[in-house]
Amino acid sequence: MTENRLAIIVLAAGQGTRMKSKLPKVLHPIAGRSLVGHVLTTASHLGAEHIEVVVRHERDQVAGAIVEQFPDAVIVDQDEIPGTGRAVEVALDAIPDFDGDVLVLSGDCPLADAVTLSAFVDEHRAAGAAATLMTAVVDDPSGYGRVIRDGAGGVDRIVEQKDATTEEAAIAEINAGMYVFRASALREHLPAVGVDNAQGEKYLTDIPGLLRGAGQRVAASVVSDVTVTFGVNDRAQLAEVGRLLNARIVRRWQLEGVTIVDPATTWIDDDAKLAPDVTLMPNTYIAGATVVESGAMIGPDTSLVDCEVGQDAVIRRSDATLAVIGAGANVGPFAYVRPGTVLGAKGKIGTFVETKNSQIGAGSKVPHLSYIGDTTIGDRVNLGAGAITANYDDIAKHRTEIGDEVHTGSHNVFVAPVRIGDGAKTGAGAVVRKDVPPGALALSVAPQRNVEGWVEKNRAGTGAAAAAVRAGEAANRETAE
Ligand code: UD1
Ligand code: CA
Repeated sequence: MTENRLAIIVLAAGQGTRMKSKLPKVLHPIAGRSLVGHVLTTASHLGAEHIEVVVRHERDQVAGAIVEQFPDAVIVDQDEIPGTGRAVEVALDAIPDFDGDVLVLSGDCPLADAVTLSAFVDEHRAAGAAATLMTAVVDDPSGYGRVIRDGAGGVDRIVEQKDATTEEAAIAEINAGMYVFRASALREHLPAVGVDNAQGEKYLTDIPGLLRGAGQRVAASVVSDVTVTFGVNDRAQLAEVGRLLNARIVRRWQLEGVTIVDPATTWIDDDAKLAPDVTLMPNTYIAGATVVESGAMIGPDTSLVDCEVGQDAVIRRSDATLAVIGAGANVGPFAYVRPGTVLGAKGKIGTFVETKNSQIGAGSKVPHLSYIGDTTIGDRVNLGAGAITANYDDIAKHRTEIGDEVHTGSHNVFVAPVRIGDGAKTGAGAVVRKDVPPGALALSVAPQRNVEGWVEKNRAGTGAAAAAVRAGEAANRETAE
């Protein structure tokens, strides 16, 4: 049925000059996704039969990023005629048989959520209007198009700020830049829109006035939450819109049972997933597709990127990327957990420890001052403080394999490739170059030799020599007594 058909056109051809960036504006990320990515994610929940994105500025980069994440979106190229009206016209030309409603969105307005937009489309359909504008009454309308109402309170037309008279510019009701149109109304009137205006562009905002002139009905939906209309034109707005989006995500997880101690310093990407009874401490960043299971405590001062964190794990003051942290495991403070780290249940990666591409078994601990790379560690292992895997010989990376129940002494170097058998032990300061059989004790440090009187003889006149002399005299007195 015609009245239930929906196409969505996302405008993303503009230049975004005020961002002053090499990166096209709509590709700037907030909450782990590009601005246009948020708009397309929302669009994908609205049941549209077509989702089109109009591109032109940095066309290949923008189109490439969109196609990668939203393979169902159709990329439409705008030609050299500028303006939002032209953008919609080329998008409609690409779906010549479509005859339903068209929802027009901007690639730089990521805060309009699916609930708001589907209510907007429903409102348009219920009103039986040829066009419905989303509008908002704001404190500072500068930069926006203003909504001009007629004597009866109906929408008469939109005037752009640059074309507005002083009286028009004083109007506080703005055009949010989101619209629903009947496709037939656009097809009929867009060709008549000219470029005779302050910006020399073909304005989409001329359509309401043209429809009214043709006796058609134009409705307005005034949003109560003006933040859904906020767009990004510069870096200050990027941060503000990012903050608002984060506040929404934080609140969503709070209502799902997550304790978030300090919402203002907790940043959660849109794709992250948190179970009930997770606690996030201040200054914590949960990024990418990170998943945290119930009872886990994260932070303070922690960043997790694309990690899996098991039940009741504790991660304090640490940085982890593409890592799996087992249930009940303990990480930090001050751990650097790099890609490919898999820490088993109840394991520990402790203070000033860096790990990479390593499996650390259940109940195994790397508690202090260590670098563990390209290593497999069995269960219930304890590595002494200062364990270093020398995994790189300038040519290739090699693995260290450590069995179950191994305990190593402090300050060991494991020169890979090397294997430590189950239950083996190593002495303090060992440089382990050869495999250690199961149950063996590996020692590589020469026995200690004390050269008596060396300081007095070789460092005469120093404080150390004087101290040694005093200690000798005290020992002699004790012997004499
Ligand atoms: C537009 C509206 C204005 C409204 C405001 C809301 C017009 C003429 N004006 O102004 O009434 O208050 O949005 O945010 O529509 N774009 C294209 N092709 C173009 C030009 C722009 O695709 O040729 C895209 C941009 O990438 C952007 C969107 O359309 O995503 C809006 O364009 P922008 O230049 O930001 O319009 P505003 O001046 O903000
Ligand atoms: Ca804009």
